[in-house]
Amino acid sequence: MSLLLVLGVVVVAAYIFRHIVVKGKSCTSKVKLHGKTVIITGSNTGIGKETAIDLAKRGARVILACRSRQRGEAALEDVKRESGSNQVVFMQLDLGSQKSVRSFAETFLKTESRLDLLINNAGVYMQGRTEDGLGMMFGVNHIGHFLLTNLLLDRLKACGPSRVVNVASMTHNWGNVDFDCLNTHKALGVGSSALDVFWIYSNSKLCNVLFNHELAKRLKGTNVTCYSLHPGAINSDLARNTSSLFQLSLTPLNLFFFKNTVQGAQTTLHCALQEGIEPLSGRYFSNCTVRELYARAKDDAASKKLWELSERMCGLA
Ligand SMILES: NC(=O)c1ccc[n+]([C@@H]2O[C@H](COP(=O)([O-])OP(=O)(O)OC[C@H]3O[C@@H](n4cnc5c(N)ncnc54)[C@H](OP(=O)(O)O)[C@@H]3O)[C@@H](O)[C@H]2O)c1
Ligand SMILES: *[C@@H]1O[C@H](CO)[C@@H](O)[C@H](O)[C@H]1NC(C)=O
Ligand SMILES: *[C@@H]1O[C@H](CO)[C@@H](O)[C@H](O)[C@H]1NC(C)=O
Ligand SMILES: *[C@@H]1O[C@H](CO)[C@@H](O)[C@H](O)[C@H]1NC(C)=O
Repeated sequence: MSLLLVLGVVVVAAYIFRHIVVKGKSCTSKVKLHGKTVIITGSNTGIGKETAIDLAKRGARVILACRSRQRGEAALEDVKRESGSNQVVFMQLDLGSQKSVRSFAETFLKTESRLDLLINNAGVYMQGRTEDGLGMMFGVNHIGHFLLTNLLLDRLKACGPSRVVNVASMTHNWGNVDFDCLNTHKALGVGSSALDVFWIYSNSKLCNVLFNHELAKRLKGTNVTCYSLHPGAINSDLARNTSSLFQLSLTPLNLFFFKNTVQGAQTTLHCALQEGIEPLSGRYFSNCTVRELYARAKDDAASKKLWELSERMCGLA
């Protein structure tokens, strides 16, 4: 009985703490998106799904670009119901397969007439290999989005002002891009201990930030702008493929210190919607605020080299 009481108090305290202290800033833009088309990768769960619901409520035509037809179609029903919009579409996209990325882009460009917002949100936290033999986190988090963005750039340019939003992470601070390792292993690191996975994930997130930096330079003079961001530490499905011990250790953090997925979507929404941030193209945001990057995360030479290597890895060069 008293144990239940204590448990109840802890849960209520955690709830209040999270909704006041952990919450962070919210996107305040009132922008409506009627007549606009948006793609969100990995939008069947987590912050991608909350982003989809918000943008659908604003009137956008929302393309849920997800790898599993079953999970994507289930999310489609949820997003339609929660947004009250029927302008929501599922299209299959597996970022771990360049064939799938190309086929998604082809279908999209054929069946849809616009693209105003591309939200590169999907991410994995797991070792393994993609269909193309790349390291899983490098292949999905970076290369898949690199190829997708490049295949859709002409459409974005034709629909300007338009935006690309790259969901990175503050873990990019601990990342590095080891080009020798990339050349030999087509991965950003080997090993599969819990610590290895963290480093390799951080490396892939540094790629997101460097990609965004180089993309902004290449988009100068167009009406397309791009932004990278840290969404916060969020209670989502991201850790689903880690050990059960690791997941257990996340429970108290989830309860007290991690944002929920609605809170976690706010910086993505800010970068997608906020009026007047176009001069900040190429920059990095956190808590709905632009942040300085360490020199390593906006290194011109590294971002150019990564771009050229990425082009070769997906047959664009
Ligand atoms: N959670 C955090 O604390 C945190 C912190 C910083 C940054 N982030 C970043 O935020 C983004 C969203 O993560 P989340 O926390 O919302 O995680 P999540 O709940 O695990 O959602 C990730 C989404 O990515 C999709 N995905 C994974 N592999 C894919 C592939 N090969 N092709 C297409 N889609 C794929 C997943 O689809 P399935 O359901 O089919 O697997 C899922 O829809 C990620 O880029 C992540 O790195 C998260
Ligand atoms: C986010 O910004 C708000 C408003 O500026 C501030 O009160 C809050 O402490 C910030 N949160 C984090 C985690 O930086
Ligand atoms: C950008 O958009 C503005 C406003 O719609 C337009 O006047 C301008 O011509 C566009 N510029 C380019 C390079 O497309
Ligand atoms: C990752 O976790 C999900 C959910 O628990 C599971 O369905 C999937 O098979 C796992 N993938 C791998 C490669 O372990």
